[in-house]
Amino acid sequence: MLHEPVRNLLTNVRTLAIVCTQWGDTGKGKFVDFFADWADIIARGTGGANAGHTIVLNGVEHIFHLVPSGILYDGDGKLNIIGNGTVIDPHVILQELSLLRAAGLPYNHLLISLNAKLILPQHIVLDRVRERVWDKSIGTTGRGIGPAYEDYYGRTALVMNDLLNVDVFVAKLRRNLRDKVAFLAAVDPAIVHEIMQHEHLANGRYWSASTMFSEEAIVAAYRNYGQALYDHLADTDIILQRSVGKRNILLEGAQGHLLSVHYGSYPFVTSSDCSVRGLAQGVGLSERAVDRVWGIVKAFFMTRVGNGPFPTEFGNEESATWCATKGVTRTSEREHFGEVSVNDPNPFFQGVGVRMAAGEYGATTGRPRRTGWLDLPLLRYAVRTGCTDGLILTKLDSLDACTTIKLCTRYRYDGPDCWRGNYLLTNGSTLDVAIPEASILQHCTPLYQEFPGWCTPIGDIRKRSSLPCALTKLVRYVEQDIGKPAVILSVGRDREQTIVR
Ligand code: IMP
Repeated sequence: MLHEPVRNLLTNVRTLAIVCTQWGDTGKGKFVDFFADWADIIARGTGGANAGHTIVLNGVEHIFHLVPSGILYDGDGKLNIIGNGTVIDPHVILQELSLLRAAGLPYNHLLISLNAKLILPQHIVLDRVRERVWDKSIGTTGRGIGPAYEDYYGRTALVMNDLLNVDVFVAKLRRNLRDKVAFLAAVDPAIVHEIMQHEHLANGRYWSASTMFSEEAIVAAYRNYGQALYDHLADTDIILQRSVGKRNILLEGAQGHLLSVHYGSYPFVTSSDCSVRGLAQGVGLSERAVDRVWGIVKAFFMTRVGNGPFPTEFGNEESATWCATKGVTRTSEREHFGEVSVNDPNPFFQGVGVRMAAGEYGATTGRPRRTGWLDLPLLRYAVRTGCTDGLILTKLDSLDACTTIKLCTRYRYDGPDCWRGNYLLTNGSTLDVAIPEASILQHCTPLYQEFPGWCTPIGDIRKRSSLPCALTKLVRYVEQDIGKPAVILSVGRDREQTIVR
């Protein structure tokens, strides 16, 4: 049953999109789960197993990479769709389905687009080899995402439907492998061999000493995948197109606006368009079919996983380097530093403290997420270019113990003079709205405004009027600055820890 305030928010809405306005990991899972009650169809349209969403139900954590967060409502007859714009590793999805089976959760209404792109072993190898040999790596999740999208735009991709037609699969596979093998032939064979032993590559099953990839092994495995997924493959575009305006559709974004290949901190982005436009297109709809776009904002801090500029990062380079260090995890970090305060005077340690308080460790990779203050120039940019109607502020309770909150309100550009069309960006100039390209963002120094923290636990508060004054002031500041209402405030991980406007 929908509560009155949620019903009011959704008046006249048939298609709702929930997207992240930052670098991902803002808690989309919780809100897709929250609105799944309202939805008849839950669909995702971009990305692949690089995403990871955690849903807490009755205190038990569920982590999914490919299956939409709404799968837990399958038993209520809700349709869960993985759209044409995604890239799918069939092995991963089958693993997730077997997890659901083991937990006794049904997935009878899960449909995967016939035209979703296939991740093949060579994509994963290429992704991992590049990360190893490039001097400025992106810090990808190593799931083959970039190479799979490249193939799609390079017109050599395979799609899910090819799993059902072996001859077509084999012909396309051969063509696809040709240039990969040519590229990998220039790499130290020991590196390729080692990477192919990874569990995501079936522990070496696809390795061939003579041809590098065993076509036979790939065909055998993918033929089985086709049989196992047969009941779930469908023309999902048509289903969604026919449902617009008639059924409640929830579009679930993946990653975040600042990771979009079109709108993000290029080249430190993922290879799909994770904006609302890419999301709509990735499920076969026009963005005009979306009635409401709510953008999630982690507040009043931000996180980033992988490499790339992050102007407000606590401890700057030191933090980026630490978070990129192999083997650092939640447990090892705690063992290494002990308990760290969110008010530590040293910015690097303050970042560690915030990460620990907010539990910011990757669901997909387990990596520590880089942490920093909320960056309004980036948020202004994301909201402006992302058609955002309202904001969902998440993880507010994480900074309960913080005595001072800093908001980045502007940047000072500290880089070399740089032409932007006929406008010259000069050293020392200030920027209100971020220019997200990495070559510029990396030279932006944040200028902060300080606010007193609220310094009290807020996890049990359910009404906006009961929030501490200091927090209300901050929320209002952001609403006014961005010019969009904060429709929902999240004060904890559980479904109930949600304040609706
Ligand atoms: P890829 O998507 O694996 O190619 O990685 C490209 C960049 O996007 C890297 O910086 C990743 O850390 C980042 N990335 C990809 N998926 C996610 C996500 O779900 N959350 C946060 N960052 C992500």
